[in-house]
Amino acid sequence: MWAWLALIVFVGASLNAQGKKTALLIIDVQDCFLPEGSLAVTDGEQVVPVINQIRSDYHNVVSLVVLTQDWHCSDHVSFASQHTGHDSYSLVNLTYNSQGQLCFGDSVPDDYAHGVSCISNGVSDTHSDVNHVVTQTLWPDHCVQNVTSGPKSASLSSTLEKRDTDIVVRKGYHCEVDSYSGFFDNGGFQQTELHSVLQRHDIGVVIVTGLALDFCVHYTAIDANTLGYRVIVVTDATRGVAPDTTQAALRHMEDTGIKLVRAAQLRATLDFSSRATQATPSVTATLLVTMVLLHLQV
Ligand SMILES: *[C@@H]1O[C@H](CO)[C@@H](O)[C@H](O)[C@H]1NC(C)=O
Ligand SMILES: *[C@@H]1O[C@H](CO)[C@@H](O)[C@H](O)[C@H]1NC(C)=O
Ligand SMILES: [Zn+2]
Repeated sequence: MWAWLALIVFVGASLNAQGKKTALLIIDVQDCFLPEGSLAVTDGEQVVPVINQIRSDYHNVVSLVVLTQDWHCSDHVSFASQHTGHDSYSLVNLTYNSQGQLCFGDSVPDDYAHGVSCISNGVSDTHSDVNHVVTQTLWPDHCVQNVTSGPKSASLSSTLEKRDTDIVVRKGYHCEVDSYSGFFDNGGFQQTELHSVLQRHDIGVVIVTGLALDFCVHYTAIDANTLGYRVIVVTDATRGVAPDTTQAALRHMEDTGIKLVRAAQLRATLDFSSRATQATPSVTATLLVTMVLLHLQV
C-alpha cells in the first residue's frame, strides 16, 4: 500500500512540474524604437536598465528569455510611404481576401507589389471575396530587415543584456500584413513560433516587457492571456507611443485579468502566480490519494 501511495504522490508531483516555468518576454527593444530611431518611443531607452535588472534579479526564476524583433520588408504595408496621400499615424482600412491576400483598394494602389485584385462589386457583397478588414495605423518606415544602422535599424539594442541561450522571434516579415503581437499577425492569418517555443520550454507564466506598451506589448500580452499563460506586464519596463492609446491598453489588459505590476512588486506577484498555477494539479493529486485511501479502506 505504501508503494502505491508513494507512486501517486510522485505522479502528483510531476504533474505539478508541467507548464509551470516562467519566461521573460522582451518585446521589440530595437534601435528603430529608441532615441535616433525613426519610430522612437518617448523615454523608450529607460526600459533597458529595468529589463536588465529583472534579468539579473530573477535569473533563478526565469528559465527562458525570448526577444521579439520587428522585421519588416522595405515596402511593408504598415509604412505610410506605401500609401500615397496618407500621413504617418493616420488610420486606413486594409482588406484581405479569404486566402489572407491584401486587396488593392482605397489606400492600396494597383501597383503595390504585395497586393492582389479582389472581387468587390461595391453594391452587394454576395459575390465579394473580401473577407477581413484590418484597421491599420500607418507608421514611418522602421525596423527594416537587414538594416543595422541609421534610423530604420532593426538591430536589438546593444545596451540590452543578452545571452547565447536567449531566443529571438521575428515578426512582421510578411510584407502585406502587420504584426503587433509576438504570436499572431494583425489579421490572425499566421502565427510565429513564439507559442511553440514557450510550450517546448514548459512555460506557464510570462513576464512581458519592452516597446511599445500600447501596441506590441499590449497585443502580445492579450494573445498570451488568450493562449492560457498567466501574464504579468511590468509597467516600468515598458513605454507607450501616445497617452490615450496607452491608457486604453492598460485598461484593456487589466480588464482581461493581466497583472500590471512595477518591477519592485514582481517578487510577490511571481510567488502568487506560481502558487496559483500549481493549485489545479495539487487538487487532482489530493483527490487521487483520497480515492485510493478510501478504496483501500485505510
Ligand atoms: C474602417 O471601417 C470601419 C467599419 O466599417 C469604419 O467605422 C471606419 O471609419 C473605417 N476607418 C477608416 C480609416 O476608413
Ligand atoms: C535579408 O538578408 C537575408 C539573408 O541574407 C535575405 O535572404 C533577405 O532577402 C534579405 N531581406 C531583404 C529585405 O533584403
Ligand atoms: Zn512595425
